[in-house]
Amino acid sequence: MMLKKISILNDNYIWIIYNIYKECVIIDPGTSNDVIKTIIKEKWTPIAILLTHKHKDHINGVEKIKKKYPEIIIYGPSEINHIPIDIIVYEGMVIKLLYRKFIVLFTPGHTYGHVSYYSNPYIFCGDVIFSGGCGYVDNNQYIEMYNSIKKILSLPNNTLLCCSHEYTLSNLIFSISIVPDDIEIKKYYILVKKKIKTKKSTLPTLLLYERKINLFLRTHETILKKSIGISDKSNSFKTFVALRLKKNLFKK
Ligand SMILES: [Fe+2]
Ligand SMILES: [Fe+2]
Repeated sequence: MMLKKISILNDNYIWIIYNIYKECVIIDPGTSNDVIKTIIKEKWTPIAILLTHKHKDHINGVEKIKKKYPEIIIYGPSEINHIPIDIIVYEGMVIKLLYRKFIVLFTPGHTYGHVSYYSNPYIFCGDVIFSGGCGYVDNNQYIEMYNSIKKILSLPNNTLLCCSHEYTLSNLIFSISIVPDDIEIKKYYILVKKKIKTKKSTLPTLLLYERKINLFLRTHETILKKSIGISDKSNSFKTFVALRLKKNLFKK
């Protein structure tokens, strides 16, 4: 299985996976033009669209793609009710596409019905985790988001996170404001700054590495609790909420 990503809008990525038989699956097409152009150029046959959640920047291209390729099957969570979904997905569902298995993980918090799709070594995790950060938590669903992140954290270290936004640099700027002496984060910041300057992507990112540089995956650490000014007896969830609230208020 091979992977391609298309940059759209300000900072979104559409991920496309394809195989040697030129079949492809599209994840979260927020627009349609570049997807259709790429499919024509590569002579691919689109088999399916996988949707993670209901936000427009992830689904706005679906209808035009379906119109052009009526055979395509659209998979998505039940929260998407304003465009036609062919197959509603649920936790633990196994979807067989491109001669591979895609396991659906229910990962709410950013929206109430958000899902991710895991096909070893890739996880298409929409707006749950970003490199160096995590998605905005909607409607006070902190416990849901915390558990969704923990679920993704339980995957093997070689998992590649195919996140939907290029937010890495701003996430690291926030992280440095919290833990200015963290050598791993500083090192990664320098690398990311160079990549962004030369218009290179920072994604996909390796779960093993995110465990080191993503503060939202390190909420068990005493140093982090101290840095955000909460008691070192606070549990990991409390730390997560405090950190996410700080991020909401953070201005570069
Ligand atoms: Fe979103
Ligand atoms: Fe998004």
